[in-house]
Amino acid sequence: MDYYELAKQYKTPFYLYDFDKIKSRFYMLKDAFRARKSQIFYAVKANSNLSVLKFLASLDSGFDCVSAGEIYRALKAGAKKYKIIFSGVGKSADELEYALKENILYVNLESEAEMLLLEQIASKIQKTARISIRVNPNVDAKTHPYISTGLHENKFGVDIENAKKMYIYAKNSKFLEPVGVHFHIGSQILDISSIHEASNIVAKLVKELLALKINLKFFDIGGGLGVCYKDEQEPNLYDYAQGILASLQGLDVCIGMEPGRFLVANAGEFVTKVLYEKFNSSKRFVVVDGAMNDLLRPSLYEAYHEIKLLAQSHENESFCDIVGGICESGDFLAKNRKLPSTKSGDLIIVKSAGAYGFSMSSNYNTRNKVCELAYENGKVRMIRKRESYEDQIALELEFLKD
Ligand code: LLP
Repeated sequence: MDYYELAKQYKTPFYLYDFDKIKSRFYMLKDAFRARKSQIFYAVKANSNLSVLKFLASLDSGFDCVSAGEIYRALKAGAKKYKIIFSGVGKSADELEYALKENILYVNLESEAEMLLLEQIASKIQKTARISIRVNPNVDAKTHPYISTGLHENKFGVDIENAKKMYIYAKNSKFLEPVGVHFHIGSQILDISSIHEASNIVAKLVKELLALKINLKFFDIGGGLGVCYKDEQEPNLYDYAQGILASLQGLDVCIGMEPGRFLVANAGEFVTKVLYEKFNSSKRFVVVDGAMNDLLRPSLYEAYHEIKLLAQSHENESFCDIVGGICESGDFLAKNRKLPSTKSGDLIIVKSAGAYGFSMSSNYNTRNKVCELAYENGKVRMIRKRESYEDQIALELEFLKD
């Protein structure tokens, strides 16, 4: 890949996604579960670019959406309605109505109050709402606390006892139809024994429900598979699948999966240009044109992304922080990395930035969102234009004096 040529053509910074890699990850996961009926519902939040969604839809992926906006995107990208599910702890009445009217596969409920609201909306528009319940199995995913979701102390899901009551209520409701169960205990999980533990707990519930004549078709195991950012050992997919399949013995269900990071993280790079080098006393900084508004993960979770400097010289290696130009000390892309001395115009590649990169970017400091490029079949194309200042102010209303 000639990054300097890309930088000349598209300017910097930019995101670059390798669609062939996304495809191979998709089939790796699908394959691991080939012994059973399964459906991947890609977690749109990880990377919601329309071309990425369209590409995944062409592989027959479904979509896990957490807002009406994501459902809208998935539909625009050509997703099949019966392959869209709707998750999230705070869905509004408008969003639920939108999902119902679009006739998506099911809504993952996260509280009793939400169920009652959905029932009310369904009765208003005279439709039956297919539902699943997100169970909180109280299992520790052993990941960063901000992305851990499966403990009772986290806001997500419903505990087993309440879930059971909700299923019984839904079965007796004219406007609700229980079709699935869901759990998602966290993200960037490397020790999959926690997912297996959750799966066992939730499968037990499914069996109890079966005895009550509540027959669920979808067993949705969420996302959460960890990937390698530095030197982490990725979970073995065969072991992952075996543990899930073992908990499902005797059950005839379709396994739903909601991978986000697993499919797109390592397929994406963030490319930025060196503006300046500076020393504050002996502390070395490399100031680049990308910043925390473009890639928030290092600032928010102290996440590690590998840094690759594309430069001629490999002399004078020393430790430095790679920082953006935003007015915050927390604005960094990497800390304490050993790099040769750089000069203005050198390119830096921030690796494994395909998940929760652009989708978490913002306009902080009135910086334009960067452009996104896709690499497929040996060719690069632009899949989102760089924003302009006009784009940024387009929705603002100007209140003129009389
Ligand atoms: N399903 C549900 C219900 C979720 O909440 C999530 C992610 C996923 C699936 C996809 O999880 P994944 O396979 O990507 O681990 N911004 C954070 C990650 C937040 C994850 C939120 N939920 C980060 O940059 O690490």
